[in-house]
Amino acid sequence: MIKTISTIDEMRNASDRLRRESRRIAFVPTMGFLHEGHLSLMRVGRKSADVLIASIFVNPAQFAPNEDFDTYPRDLQRDLDLCSKENVDLVFMPTSDELYPNGYETYVKLDHLPNHLCGLSRPVFFTGVATVVMKLFNIVKPHFAVFGEKDFQQLQIIKRMVSDLNADIEIISAPIVREPDGLAMSSRNAYLTPSQRPAALTLYASLKLAKEMVEKGIRESTRIIEKARNLIEGQPETEIDYLTICDPKTLTDVDCIDQSALMALAVMVGKTRLIDNMILRPNEEAPEPC
Ligand code: PAJ
Repeated sequence: MIKTISTIDEMRNASDRLRRESRRIAFVPTMGFLHEGHLSLMRVGRKSADVLIASIFVNPAQFAPNEDFDTYPRDLQRDLDLCSKENVDLVFMPTSDELYPNGYETYVKLDHLPNHLCGLSRPVFFTGVATVVMKLFNIVKPHFAVFGEKDFQQLQIIKRMVSDLNADIEIISAPIVREPDGLAMSSRNAYLTPSQRPAALTLYASLKLAKEMVEKGIRESTRIIEKARNLIEGQPETEIDYLTICDPKTLTDVDCIDQSALMALAVMVGKTRLIDNMILRPNEEAPEPC
């Protein structure tokens, strides 16, 4: 049976012991309901370290009161079986009271990166993410931590936080894992009904359309965004939260794609919020004017 730890003290002791033995620790934080996207991070972690630790914790601090904390999909036994198959050495799965006891009042808040993309419609989200990730880093004490490019803004925020707070941890990123039909894997895909699938697929379809346009030499963001928007809005039950082409580092909008840019989008399909993104690389040989 895979080893699980629920208390901070026990997790700290285990990590201290591993560090004394000069073992390199890789860490994959998750909110559980694991899928191939999570497992791909575990494989990356496995390669770069001697010991692989995962965490499963649905973090209340990153959900607003109107969001899906209570209904977020959970299946602990299945998750532990999957971790075991991926040769995870240890799963840290604290309770909310363990991480946020009575009297808790300290949060990690970034000034600029959260003021874009998902942060606009989810104002508490990135403070919750940065806080829990910093806490997990302090408890698990990994040498490396692996995050998915699926949550591109989250990845940039964590890199920034680690650099700003001088955390002695290397952040490794891993590419988006997709279903065979192109839908980016997400625990929230479990909410989609079969009839909503065509609508959900418009996220990836719009990114591919944008990539094709940029490869043809089109560089004007507004032209690309308009086409992508029409494609998504052509399906029922879709409501675009944002659809942006921006600088991958600062996340500020770019009007002309004259260097690699990030296209990122969030779309409500029925009651399910889906996100996806892709890097667009301009065609250097046949650029159209902006
Ligand atoms: P969660 O949504 O469970 O995702 C955990 C990790 O898996 C994140 O790094 C995320 O980017 C990655 N991931 C999810 N879907 C992916 C996919 N299709 N391809 C590649 N990687 C994917 O992100 C969180 O949890 C939380 O915010 C957390 C960081 C754990 C803090 O609570």
